[in-house]
Amino acid sequence: MNRDVIIACDFSTKKALLEFLDKFSDEQLYLKVGMELYYAEGPEILKEIKRRGHKIFLDLKLHDIPNTVKKAMSVLSNLDVDMVNLHASGGSNMMKAALEGLVRPDGTRPLLIAVTQLTSTSEQLMKEELLINEKIQDVVVSYAKNAKNSGLDGVVCSPLEAGMVKSACGKEFLTITPGIRFADGEKGDQVRVTTPAMAKEIGSDFIVVGRPITEAVDPAAAYKECVKQFI
Ligand code: C5P
Repeated sequence: MNRDVIIACDFSTKKALLEFLDKFSDEQLYLKVGMELYYAEGPEILKEIKRRGHKIFLDLKLHDIPNTVKKAMSVLSNLDVDMVNLHASGGSNMMKAALEGLVRPDGTRPLLIAVTQLTSTSEQLMKEELLINEKIQDVVVSYAKNAKNSGLDGVVCSPLEAGMVKSACGKEFLTITPGIRFADGEKGDQVRVTTPAMAKEIGSDFIVVGRPITEAVDPAAAYKECVKQFI
């Protein structure tokens, strides 16, 4: 499995996305499309990205009963995305059903990645609202193991958790890590950040980079710098 830089395309319109993509020449990019853009523009946006030869991580974080998730995953798989995700808290049966739904008639399927605990979830929230009394790191590792045992390919996690996940689930189990910043860059609302070079050292397989590229004066140059440090 090769390492790759995924650009978080947190735009709200097709126009904004295409203006951004026009700043690149002929690189084949890996783009993360999230709820905002997908709900605004629908499947057509994915077809346009594919027409341009890019890869897609569709970040919709599914979480529902197994049968519904299976059928939804089947629809997403047919849209030719390369990576999709779900919430591990939906349980092993939901994750296994998702995997079944993703397999295309020719036997291929997108990578299936789990979200363990969102980085916006604190230990206090887990305890007071979700009634989970464990340490957040133990929950992350336990959910990652459930994902692995259900046949998933990896998890989204902080680069600082990637080592722990690899130790528990093996080095082939993928870690997809956001929270990436250049050493001299703005952190924005991210708290625990690492550079692309550090993420490589820690063992991330994919880094997800948004604003350091999308808001750069020269996005193509910022992307190249990420690739240089990470790959
Ligand atoms: O702009 P920035 O580099 O902070 O964007 C990071 C991307 O990764 C955003 O799309 C954000 O929603 C996503 N993400 C994250 N932290 C997580 C999961 C996803 O920042 N734990």
